[in-house]
Amino acid sequence: MIVLGIEGTAWSLSAGVVDENNIILIENNPYIPREGGIHPREASQHHSDSIPDLISKVFSNVSPEEVDLIAFSQGPGMGPCLRIVATAARLISLKLKKPLVGVNHCLAHVEVGRWRTQAENPVVLYVSGGNTQIIARRGNYYRVFGETLDIGIGNGIDKLARHMGLKHPGGPRIEKLAESGREYHELPYVVKGMDLSFSGLVTAAQRLYDNKVRMEDVAFSFQETAFAMLTEVTERALAYLNLDEALLVGGVGANKRLQGMLRTMCKDRNAKFFCPPNELMGDNGAMIAYTGLLMYRHGYETRVEDSAVKPDFRIEDVEVRWD
Ligand SMILES: Nc1ncnc2c1ncn2[C@@H]1O[C@H](COP(=O)(O)OP(=O)(O)O)[C@@H](O)[C@H]1O
Ligand SMILES: [Mg+2]
Repeated sequence: MIVLGIEGTAWSLSAGVVDENNIILIENNPYIPREGGIHPREASQHHSDSIPDLISKVFSNVSPEEVDLIAFSQGPGMGPCLRIVATAARLISLKLKKPLVGVNHCLAHVEVGRWRTQAENPVVLYVSGGNTQIIARRGNYYRVFGETLDIGIGNGIDKLARHMGLKHPGGPRIEKLAESGREYHELPYVVKGMDLSFSGLVTAAQRLYDNKVRMEDVAFSFQETAFAMLTEVTERALAYLNLDEALLVGGVGANKRLQGMLRTMCKDRNAKFFCPPNELMGDNGAMIAYTGLLMYRHGYETRVEDSAVKPDFRIEDVEVRWD
């Protein structure tokens, strides 16, 4: 079975084609803000301008007749962006007379991670721009055991980066600077039970920069603090749930320092640590295609009249009918 998946919940616009075993292709055309953060209207304008070309590129590599199913990111995300992608997916589905399936974006990060690693029943640390969650499966649902009380960690990193005059996305730039950090400056470490908060940490790190602390040391101190918070909560979930696998997913998961901290923590408690390759960490169409395939195989199909976007879609809302 060959599935086309389209992702476009926020900044990324991506199409992917997969079958049961392989990723056949991924085509990306991300929106990159000229200045400041992501503007929903500009991002959706970018998506609407770029999606015809993106889909043409896919169909120049895979013939439309070969495609058996169309999957799209139904939420959570920015309404205007979601609507562009849903409209394109409906159109392709109707035109090719192939079924449609709406996919939860967070579930897609988790399932593509499990698919591409050996993880079976992991505690998932999902870290992206808009989301920061600690997730594990209990029976036929994923449950969120901990999450950010304010902004997503990626968003926090991007805010700090912007304040220091760095371009969007800030993650890779902050990571590079932090590698040359020498001195740790104390920053607010906010873990409340299983939940986390990053906005005070971002403000405090911005103050360090305003007070002429070296950029490398700001980036270093920020990463050490934020990633230790994430590692602490992931470890507590492993202990509470008595699980022995951790899986890191989401755009921030590309960060080598975060991977390193989690790896060390897992090693210390005899747990296995998994992370998918970088091209699958950030938002991509292949994760939507693969999750759509799983869902369709287990009885899911979205009729066009039921395909309205869900900006507040939660991972707990989807019944998981597969192993
Ligand atoms: N190497 C990195 N280190 C830290 N953060 C990163 C790195 N690479 C990307 N990011 C961050 O990942 C976030 C994007 O995550 P992604 O899952 O692709 O998107 P979304 O939040 O829209 O779901 C951005 O905030 C970006 O700065
Ligand atoms: Mg994402």
